[in-house]
Amino acid sequence: MAAQIINGKIISDQIKEEIKTSVEIDFLPQNIRPGLAAILIGDDPSSHIYVESKRKACEFVGFHSEVFRFSKDFKEIELIKLIEKLNRDDKFHGILVQQPLPHHVDQEKINLSIDPAKDVDGFHPVNFGKLLAGEETFIPCTPAGILELLRRYEISTSGKHAVILGRSNIVGKPIASLLMQKSSEANATVTVCHSATENIKMHTIQADILIAAIGRPHFVTAEMVNENCTVIDVGINRVSEPTLKNKYRLVGDVKFDEVSTKVKAITPVPGGVGPMTIAMLLKNTLIAATNFYNINQNA
Ligand code: GUN
Repeated sequence: MAAQIINGKIISDQIKEEIKTSVEIDFLPQNIRPGLAAILIGDDPSSHIYVESKRKACEFVGFHSEVFRFSKDFKEIELIKLIEKLNRDDKFHGILVQQPLPHHVDQEKINLSIDPAKDVDGFHPVNFGKLLAGEETFIPCTPAGILELLRRYEISTSGKHAVILGRSNIVGKPIASLLMQKSSEANATVTVCHSATENIKMHTIQADILIAAIGRPHFVTAEMVNENCTVIDVGINRVSEPTLKNKYRLVGDVKFDEVSTKVKAITPVPGGVGPMTIAMLLKNTLIAATNFYNINQNA
């Protein structure tokens, strides 16, 4: 039987509408609006597309937003100076530095330079530590998007076996930590597989929830999953497709065509986790601005 398609586009549109309404009710009447500063470095085509999508989404919900651009051979100190200026600028409640960064940039130093109260990516060690401890904090946008999809599709993780492919700081580590928290919204038993894992199939075949975040096109095949599995595909891989106008096609880490005929539910690529990441960035920025202006959301 064909799997239920978990539609991230529809859910992200709903979330954007909710945020837009909150801006209209809680902010605009007081002549204030949430603000997001996006920093874009170098000429990576995917990063340019993502940052432009983020800017457009900000415009849609009524946020103030600005994009700050650096060429790929910029000096790290210039970036730190800009971040320090943005930390003091009350127009911006959220700051993000689009990744990947050029190799000469110390990612840890950049993460540390952002005010934790404006760290809407959740990459600052203080926020990352809070997440690990199960305290309230900014949840990195992709893991937050995955949790929101599962919640809105009423797919429970409590008592279930979640298998995660990938151990990155942006996705694998935070989603593993979030899913194993002691809470009725999480409560999963978690296995994390990575490049040194032997016999990955032995793990994936047991998964009630499989999260693929390794950046390898079509890595997960039908023989690696069971019929009751919910598959969340985080991969956004560009593969060459000479017949198409822009010469490439976006595919996930999962072989959608065959896996979707076997499992219970699955996210497509595009239209699954991708749009959710942007919606959750907006949500985190709304939370940062709500905290800054001390707005009581329940009022
Ligand atoms: N590049 C890929 N995903 C992300 C993300 O969530 N935040 C930032 N800043 N860069 C990314």
